[in-house]
Amino acid sequence: MADKTSEIKQSFMAELEAVNEISQLEAIKVKYLGKNGLITELMKDMKSLTPEEKKSFGQAVNVLKNEVSEIIAEKTEELKHKAILEEINKMQDFDISTPANTERGSYHPITLVQRQCEAIFKSMGFTVEEYSEVVTDYECFEALNIPKHHPARDMQDTYYLENGQLLKSHTSATQNAIYKKYKDNLVNNGVPIKAIFPGRCFRNEATDACHENTFFQMEGVMVDKNISISNLIFFMKTMLSEVFKKDIKVRLRPGFFPFVEPGFELDISCLICGGEGCPSCKHSGWLELCPCGMIHPEVLKAGEIDPEEYTGFAFGLGLTRLAMMKYGVKDIRDLNSGNLKSLSQFTDDE
Ligand code: PHE
Repeated sequence: MADKTSEIKQSFMAELEAVNEISQLEAIKVKYLGKNGLITELMKDMKSLTPEEKKSFGQAVNVLKNEVSEIIAEKTEELKHKAILEEINKMQDFDISTPANTERGSYHPITLVQRQCEAIFKSMGFTVEEYSEVVTDYECFEALNIPKHHPARDMQDTYYLENGQLLKSHTSATQNAIYKKYKDNLVNNGVPIKAIFPGRCFRNEATDACHENTFFQMEGVMVDKNISISNLIFFMKTMLSEVFKKDIKVRLRPGFFPFVEPGFELDISCLICGGEGCPSCKHSGWLELCPCGMIHPEVLKAGEIDPEEYTGFAFGLGLTRLAMMKYGVKDIRDLNSGNLKSLSQFTDDE
């Protein structure tokens, strides 16, 4: 009987020699240790043995079983290790003398215009603020004097989350947070609030050459004692002339927004058609670029600023529209297209 166990051990070791892959090892494992495997079968032979023989044979079979299991486990580890090394070698199989790809990426035209505007406003003492794209109904509407069911909400239909929050439909949604952030400095230290906050905005829009569901604005506010419309006009003219590097033709029309009083639409002459009229300017020769106005007293109050003592202006610059004007992009949809052919041709090397 003892011969049988050493015979099996020998044949097992011989077969193991030839194993190169995990699948082969699996087959051997079944052959020897499986339900009907050779070692398992040995146990069945015990019936015919005396109790004495049973004891020593049983022990021998157990030792063999443990040895074989251990050897198989070791071999499994070894084969796994080998497979990993082979993978690594394959990965290293490239030509290190191949020249590097020296093609550089480029900034998106909106990023270029945004950075430029930020630099101009920073030079005039404005801080640049960041704010989230998901805001509350209060921030986007209520705090801006747009109560529930106000018709002004129709134009700003946007995307709502299940928790009641929404994707901001305009950068004005940041105003309330900015007033609250700086009001103490204004009141206690007499430091005017001068801030811009660029951001991505969303609206439920049918898209065409001049409308997109995702676009960029840059809001600006200034609050202090005795701020008037002439301050607003000065800052807007300075900024636009800097951006376009020439004196830009602008016009102010009255415009209604519940959060400013009085409110205006600041238009610039269309740079694509030079004022002749084209699809980008809806054939009017003018482009609506920057709604603006004096901050409504209710909005200041919501921002915990006393409207009896302080006044301010706010503007909502259409960054997307500005980029189209500056770079002569005819269709707004190109800007979100991810088409590198059209997007990578702009630089800010002026
Ligand atoms: N938030 C307004 C809009 O997107 C624009 C605006 C901003 C108007 C600031 C006045 C003052 O329609």
